[in-house]
Amino acid sequence: MKPIQAAITGVQGYVPEYVLSNAELEKMVDTTDEWITSRTGIKERRLLKGEGLGASYMGIQAAKGLLEKTQTDAKEIDMLICATATPDMVFPATANLIAQGIGCTADCLSYDIMAACSGFLFALTTASKFIETGVFKKIIVVGTDKMSSIIDYTDRQTCVIFGDGAGAVLLEANTEGNGLIDHILRSDGAGSEFLYMKAGGSRYPASTQTVANKEHYVTQHGSVVFKHAVKNMADTSYELVQRNGLSADEIAYLVPHQANLRIIDATAERLGLNPNKVLINIQRYGNTTNGTIPLCLWDFESQFKKGDNLVLAAFGGGFTWGAAYLKWAY
Ligand code: COA
Repeated sequence: MKPIQAAITGVQGYVPEYVLSNAELEKMVDTTDEWITSRTGIKERRLLKGEGLGASYMGIQAAKGLLEKTQTDAKEIDMLICATATPDMVFPATANLIAQGIGCTADCLSYDIMAACSGFLFALTTASKFIETGVFKKIIVVGTDKMSSIIDYTDRQTCVIFGDGAGAVLLEANTEGNGLIDHILRSDGAGSEFLYMKAGGSRYPASTQTVANKEHYVTQHGSVVFKHAVKNMADTSYELVQRNGLSADEIAYLVPHQANLRIIDATAERLGLNPNKVLINIQRYGNTTNGTIPLCLWDFESQFKKGDNLVLAAFGGGFTWGAAYLKWAY
């Protein structure tokens, strides 16, 4: 009997309507379109507006669209994992809210994974184990973040980078040799002092002091994060490609986390890939954290052919990072 692999059988994204352009940011902080474009590759990002709308709202839009597109009944979904750094609330899990929002039954196991910007990759590989062992047949993996809820729009170093968005994939068993083939995932808490949101958790619960100190916003030591991201995303992708004996010619596409165009370029260069094999949509959405990889798959879905070798790569707070090798299944 051929081994069961977990294959992506559908992908759907959702981005909010509101566009925050570099021109608008020029009016908000001391920055320029030229600086943002040349240092990050970002031209605009989306922001979710509307009272009471959180990460689950965007996750629901993406997952609902996914069910429609793949003609799947919500009652068939065995599991839903949501990767997010901006859950609606600390609990219940945002995955519970999304599962309910799309009409899943209580038989659908749902929970969140938090691994900052690597969360979607971690969730995808976690979900694949439940498919590979035959425990579950259909799993939805959602990556969704409302980064605008934790960004200080007076901090020019972070507010130009992040945006809001969500994506969702359907995972099903495949015995044709397509699906997730291999992955390398890593995490190192030594990175925790360089990218974090200090307050709002159990160590520093929300207080008037934490609000006054702006501790409910992302704090980032940009250049330190940048150096680690460049090295780790490139090294891990290279290691994965090497151990699977993949030449640059055999890789159809690199699907990288969209944090900074220069980080993506470094990984592509390390793998020896032509620019046309590197999927980039950072100019339109910025860094949507857990949304980047599924949004990228969604944007470029029409280019993929069955059997294409894709390398997914991510880096995020923690630090967390990794790469996954999969064969496209449709
Ligand atoms: N507009 C204009 N100038 C800015 C700016 C902005 N939006 N943000 C920072 N600067 C300034 C800095 O203040 C600094 O000025 P100084 O030299 O007078 O002190 C200068 O630009 C260079 O800052 P530096 O932080 O070294 O820039 P950088 O080239 O590293 O780019 C980031 C900054 C944030 C774009 C970059 O570090 C980065 O992308 N880091 C990783 C981010 C990331 O991936 N985060 C998520 C993890 S998934």
